[in-house]
Amino acid sequence: MSDNRPGTAEVLLGLASAAGIDIDINVEDEGINIELPGADLGFRHSFVNGPMARRARQSTQALLRACTNRQRNIRSVLDLTAGWGADSLTLAAHGQQVTMLEQNSLLCAILACSLERLALDERGHEIARRLTLTKANARDFLQDLDAGQDFDCIYLDPMFPAHKSGAKPGREMQILQTLTGNTDIESCFELSLQKARRRVVVKRPLKAPAFGESRPDMVYREKSIRLDVYLTR
Ligand SMILES: C[S@@+](CC[C@H](N)C(=O)[O-])C[C@H]1O[C@@H](n2cnc3c(N)ncnc32)[C@H](O)[C@@H]1O
Repeated sequence: MSDNRPGTAEVLLGLASAAGIDIDINVEDEGINIELPGADLGFRHSFVNGPMARRARQSTQALLRACTNRQRNIRSVLDLTAGWGADSLTLAAHGQQVTMLEQNSLLCAILACSLERLALDERGHEIARRLTLTKANARDFLQDLDAGQDFDCIYLDPMFPAHKSGAKPGREMQILQTLTGNTDIESCFELSLQKARRRVVVKRPLKAPAFGESRPDMVYREKSIRLDVYLTR
């Protein structure tokens, strides 16, 4: 992990109480239980067991088609919006070297804790070696990055706007929406186009307009989302 990685379970519990929202966090052997009692929402965060780890092993995801390509030398990904780390975990499980950025201190501490457990797991430690976590605002990080130097692919998965029908996303995403939001995403996209060695990938709701002025070079679709790919070289 990078030097400015966040800390351990104790730090995490302190951050939860400092966040000033009604949240319960319990660190257990199986993972980190996160609950919003007021909203009756909860889930267990783990990179080792459970839905996130299972999803990471699936090889047919559009995310993998968009962000990995051995023939085109896509070997490293900068995930500007790590969130719960599900997409980063999937990419690392399929061989990508992934740098995760997350702006929110509590989320970052949860990611760090789950990453430590993954590193101790017999099956997971190779994947953990491919994951680096940094707490940062993505725009600041990108501004300091040399163009074309470090990352083959830059990936953005901003928080989606509320659905017009009132349909709610899954509980993990509802909790994320309570904890954090988007910051400087438009400028992150523009900077990414200047800095990515080979491509920029943006996750969008299936029918939402594309980001920025230019049309994506490739689009990969799933049931409710799509991945817009912009080739930078
Ligand atoms: C929709 S979530 C990403 C979900 C993630 N792809 C996953 O697999 O769990 C968006 C995340 O981006 C983070 N974020 C938004 N703007 C950011 C910025 N400028 N710098 C760093 N993180 C940012 C938010 O705090 C939030 O956690």
